[in-house]
Amino acid sequence: MSLAETREVAATVPNDLAAFWVPFTPNRAFKKAPRLIARAKDMHYYTPEGRAVLDGSAGMWCTNAGHNRGSIVEAIQRQAAELDYAPAFQFAHPKSFELASRVAALAPQGLEHVFFTNSGSEAVDTALKIALAYNHARGQAARTRLIGRERGYHGVGFGGISVGGIVANRRYFGAMLAGVDHLPHTYNREQQAYTKGEPEWGAHLADELERIVALHDASTIAAVIVEPMAGSTGVLPAPKGYLQRLRQICDKYGILLILDEVITGFGRLGYAFAAERYGVKPDMIVFAKGVTSGAVPMGGVIVRDTVHDAFMTGPEHVIELFHGYTYSAHPLACAAGIATLDLYREEGLFERARKLEPAWADAAMSLKGLPHVLDIRPVGLVAGIDLASRPDAVGRRAYEVMERGFRDENVLVRITGDTIALSPPLIITESQIGELFDKVARAIKAVA
Ligand SMILES: Cc1ncc(COP(=O)(O)O)c(C=O)c1O
Repeated sequence: MSLAETREVAATVPNDLAAFWVPFTPNRAFKKAPRLIARAKDMHYYTPEGRAVLDGSAGMWCTNAGHNRGSIVEAIQRQAAELDYAPAFQFAHPKSFELASRVAALAPQGLEHVFFTNSGSEAVDTALKIALAYNHARGQAARTRLIGRERGYHGVGFGGISVGGIVANRRYFGAMLAGVDHLPHTYNREQQAYTKGEPEWGAHLADELERIVALHDASTIAAVIVEPMAGSTGVLPAPKGYLQRLRQICDKYGILLILDEVITGFGRLGYAFAAERYGVKPDMIVFAKGVTSGAVPMGGVIVRDTVHDAFMTGPEHVIELFHGYTYSAHPLACAAGIATLDLYREEGLFERARKLEPAWADAAMSLKGLPHVLDIRPVGLVAGIDLASRPDAVGRRAYEVMERGFRDENVLVRITGDTIALSPPLIITESQIGELFDKVARAIKAVA
């Protein structure tokens, strides 16, 4: 078919929204009244009609530097013109090494090697596979069990849903990975309601790992994976001392500790990684989202030297880890990543998030007392707001807040169940923080 003919055919195909199966979305409701976004700049989205919408969720926890930042856009454009693609296996391009070094430099000392993927889900599965293969390499091949946590979200690969703990993401998908167990989640409203930052109550829940070890024996357990702050399940910050305790127990039994920092990485909690905020050195950090400020898909795993080095044995011409993706360290993603890290540094955005945290937490707590608000959990530049479910329809009230927010208040928020999760770009100003919570408050009142 000639180009002209192709164009003609394309013009006759109706764009009726049917073909695109929208992910994690009620498709029939969406297609009756789509929420469309056509462009973005800094703190705002713009609808196709040009209505400005304040971004209260950094897209999906990812555009930490704000939208369509000039230097990131230009880096992607330059890279597209210079090198579109280089084979990811057996060859590499210079920017992949540069970005790996830059990412590793942000992690705690000793986490020195970076394996690139294209998403958080792939990065989680990569970390789990590295954990299994590492134990094989060190002569402990019986360590095949992986321990996740209830209410954890680790993406949608089979590894991620297996260690994850969100029932809707698991129940339709068969047996998943064998040999997985779960720690209890750390949320208890009675003990923790309306806490700013890390709750005092809950560190003892890390001791549940002792119970799991007693049940399965440490010699069968490869790794524990947790989010420092469970994000997609509704913002559950780690209780004070919890992660440190988990680290101690992992050390005691030779179990790897993987922190899934897909949300908490790149400034969300005021530091490059939450590992720094909590003074905990994991064996692997899973990252994605903020590494390119959402501009090009990218994820990865930062791996501790001892884990990496265990693979670097045997004949030198033999592949050490049989794993990778066609688009691992894609040139566009690397260019975007380098420009993003430059911007974070030049504008001091991680420190900015840390400085804004008290004002952010106060603004979040101003919603206390609004109709149906049950709890508010601010931490870093994140806040979870729990609403009481409508008796006949769990999730409906928060969905209505999102709808109202978008259409009437010109604000974009994320929801999970009946929790509103706010996590704006780190460039948000104090007055925009006030504006954001005012808009959310009006939307909450409107659906009361
Ligand atoms: C903690 C965590 N891990 C993994 C993922 C999966 O990332 P992706 O959607 O890029 O696959 C997410 C996504 O929100 C996440 O929050």
